[in-house]
Amino acid sequence: MTSPIHSLAAHHYTDPEIFRIESAGLFNRTWQFAGHVSQVANPGDYFTFQLNGESLFCIRNQDNEIKVFYNVCQHRAHELMSGEGNAKLIVCPYHAWTYELSGQLRSGPNIRSVPGFDRSEICLSTVRVEEFCGFLFVNLDPDAAPMDAWFPKAREELAAFVPQHAQLKPVRWEEIPEHCNWKVSVENYSECYHCKLNHPTFSNGVVRPETYDIQPQGHCLRHTTECQNLDQMSYPIDLDSNAHAGDYSSWFLWPLFSFQVYPGNILNTYHWCPVDADHVVVWRGWYTVDGVASELIDNLAQQDLDTTVAEDIGLVESVQRGLKSRGYRPGPLVVDPEGGVNSEHSVMVLQQWMREAATVESNV
Ligand code: FES
Ligand SMILES: [Fe+2]
Repeated sequence: MTSPIHSLAAHHYTDPEIFRIESAGLFNRTWQFAGHVSQVANPGDYFTFQLNGESLFCIRNQDNEIKVFYNVCQHRAHELMSGEGNAKLIVCPYHAWTYELSGQLRSGPNIRSVPGFDRSEICLSTVRVEEFCGFLFVNLDPDAAPMDAWFPKAREELAAFVPQHAQLKPVRWEEIPEHCNWKVSVENYSECYHCKLNHPTFSNGVVRPETYDIQPQGHCLRHTTECQNLDQMSYPIDLDSNAHAGDYSSWFLWPLFSFQVYPGNILNTYHWCPVDADHVVVWRGWYTVDGVASELIDNLAQQDLDTTVAEDIGLVESVQRGLKSRGYRPGPLVVDPEGGVNSEHSVMVLQQWMREAATVESNV
């Protein structure tokens, strides 16, 4: 007889050393959200962003390629870009070394006077970047497998669920600080065993919880469910508009991002930004065609913030306090071989990835 699988040991969520191992390994080797392609619509458009302690910038070059560079000059390490904007060339604010948008050094005051100075050998350091249905993801590991290998089928599925994805732009952002470890928040996102009790609006007015399931696809956790009966939906949808108008689905991309499509093909995202062992900031993003404001999306985003998000904050912060209790011993996960809404098979999978990240990295 097999015995139940137990939840992860509490120190995984509270020990700063585990967080350091994750930062040094996992976060540097996985695909991380950088921004949206609409932020670099034209050649020269750029934006800067932070990732795991690194400053990076994304820019569209003259050949219409999207590039991501470490935001550091190859002379004496001044940061090159700040904020966002449009640039014909990349000019360092310290001594005016100037780079092409390809990253190649073009000129610098008095560099010709230096015997043996070879301009062509100097180039900004690039970072792997992939566009995924209009979203930009980077990986600090130059040898990382492509996103389609990490998250098989997710790209095609997402495109089918969001037929308008090529025209989308961000319309609304919510910043949600949570006093808990990033893994507590991600685990909470990745099971719906708690939904009926804690998310009445989501369970009664958005989805039909009895149809909810979560299955792994590579390192993606794919959530699927049907929408609630139309007379109970908290907002109107047109079921005849396309094949997936009545479905809810989400694609959690290990370890820190999720695409979520609400019934009505409404795309929104979760982006977890770990701060330290005890804190994570979750960014919720909402998207509309051309970024045009929509009362329906605004109301739905507000409903989500006031119900599901607020309800989850209470849960995850209580769990973080509980994980520090001397009276806690990790309990068995409720893994139903049939899957379904009242099963934590998805947490079991997630915790296996978490264990591997903590073990592999400690050998580095
Ligand atoms: S550090 Fe950039 S030009 Fe000197
Ligand atoms: Fe929840």
